[in-house]
Amino acid sequence: MKLETERLILREVKLSDVKEITKKVNTLDVSRYLGVVPYPYSIKDAKWFINKCLKDAKKENRESYELAIELKSENKIIGVISLTKVSDFHKTATLGYWLAKDYWRNGIMKEACIEIINFGFNKLKLRRLNVKIYVVNIPSNSFIKKLGFNYEGTMIKSYKVKSTGKIHDENIYGLLKEDWLKHKNRLLKEMQK
Ligand SMILES: CC(C)(COP(=O)(O)OP(=O)(O)OC[C@H]1O[C@@H](n2cnc3c(N)ncnc32)[C@H](O)[C@@H]1OP(=O)(O)O)[C@@H](O)C(=O)NCCC(=O)NCCS
Repeated sequence: MKLETERLILREVKLSDVKEITKKVNTLDVSRYLGVVPYPYSIKDAKWFINKCLKDAKKENRESYELAIELKSENKIIGVISLTKVSDFHKTATLGYWLAKDYWRNGIMKEACIEIINFGFNKLKLRRLNVKIYVVNIPSNSFIKKLGFNYEGTMIKSYKVKSTGKIHDENIYGLLKEDWLKHKNRLLKEMQK
């Protein structure tokens, strides 16, 4: 499975990504916002993650797409974007993402998300995407609203983060297929400016 945008390739992770993933996730700037990612993050952790993704990718009714974000100009993985908890019955999935710090604020995750959201609604025929974001994660809350997701409520003290051990409140967001088209057109227009 592979998707492509102007600057990016979204592809399956592979064992040769192990060093880059370890290097890029092994900072609290990233892992403090990711629920199950340990800190410090070791080669062994990255191998476990990659093997899990490879196993998930082989399943007949695939429920998890955790894709490498590869920057074409550097030919290497700079983050991960995912649709997990893909339910063929409910036609829903959960969107997830992280990007290495050096690449923030260049519109990279926006570019990647537009592509995977299109994939979810058009190819997987989903009708709704879900995201949960810690209230303290200002960049991601702001990012998801920019994409067009609706804020639907807050769960109090709902999650303990593996890397920091802190307990966080989580904001819940949703995006319906019927609302996506207008947001997509707006986002594409913004990117052309
Ligand atoms: C959240 C994250 C993925 C954003 O990626 P990014 O590539 O920097 O985001 P983009 O450049 O595509 O930003 C798109 C929009 O999101 C919003 N945004 C992104 N980062 C922001 C920040 N630090 N503060 C405020 N708004 C922000 C802005 O509206 C931005 O549009 P603009 O640049 O035109 O103002 C990145 O900061 C990250 O990986 N953080 C750590 C991991 C994480 O939090 N993952 C999500 C867990 S829920």
